[in-house]
Amino acid sequence: MNSILAPPPDVRWNSPCKINLLLNILGKRPDGFHELETVMVPIPVHDELTIRLLPATHGLQVTCSDPVLPVDQSNLVTRAASRFLAAAHISTGLHIHLEKRLPMGAGLGGGSANAAVTLRALNHLLNQPLSQPAIQGLAAELGSDVPFFLQDQPALATGRGETVQSLPAFPALKGLTILLVHPGFGIPTPWAYKELARFPLALNGSPGRARHLIEGLQSGTAPSNLQSLLYNSLEAPALTKYPVLALYQQFFRSNQAAATLMSGSGSTTFALFPSQTLAAAALHGFTRQFGNPAWSALATL
Ligand code: C5P
Repeated sequence: MNSILAPPPDVRWNSPCKINLLLNILGKRPDGFHELETVMVPIPVHDELTIRLLPATHGLQVTCSDPVLPVDQSNLVTRAASRFLAAAHISTGLHIHLEKRLPMGAGLGGGSANAAVTLRALNHLLNQPLSQPAIQGLAAELGSDVPFFLQDQPALATGRGETVQSLPAFPALKGLTILLVHPGFGIPTPWAYKELARFPLALNGSPGRARHLIEGLQSGTAPSNLQSLLYNSLEAPALTKYPVLALYQQFFRSNQAAATLMSGSGSTTFALFPSQTLAAAALHGFTRQFGNPAWSALATL
């Protein structure tokens, strides 16, 4: 028989990642951020958060499987949990463990998802002390990509990325296999945005690409012009500094990818394939050409 003094069970949460099928930057704003339109799709490749409620005397304890990632207030999990408890006026103790499987500084939104999942999980575990608008406000303060991970659908995000409109799953992507490869170096997001100043065309895109892409993805099969619908303004600085990323894309294009692009501010490249077999073959060929990628993942959409 369980003792009533037994510790409460740990609760596990998957923390997914995303790709940007489109990241169209529309100009620099007076607040220093960039106005944009982006189409993001959640990808079922995960970090894992384990959360345990403790007596208040334990305070907030965060641990991480990756010793490189600090667990102080620079960690988005720690920051999300502190902000949540302060906003909800709750003084419980917490232990949160982050099992980090996704690469960092990778353009996959891994850290943003960690923050959003922390907010969602705490609101659930503590019986919804914060309203949805309050959670959204906290998420937007934590980072431009955090609000996207408060929901589980593809979405159009505008503003600096924090205004999220959920979209139904795209029929054209259903059944495609995505291959993600990380080159072993990260690209800091602030650097990529700052460098845009040297690429005026990329800095000042015209709105409308998002609508065009979303329309193209609503048909039952991937459109033959899929590659031309995808676009990422931040490739201008990133591929100039790191031409190997352009070589990755060239390789995937000549190995039967329906489309390929850098995700977010990089450095992850994604490629979409009509089948798992073709994606696995492309990864095999990629390894022969470039060596083992520092990190890779395959997922079926
Ligand atoms: O919001 P987040 O913390 O993810 O942004 C990181 C950095 O990326 C910002 O400090 C800013 O330099 C840049 N950024 C931007 N415009 C956006 C999003 C991010 O300039 N829309």
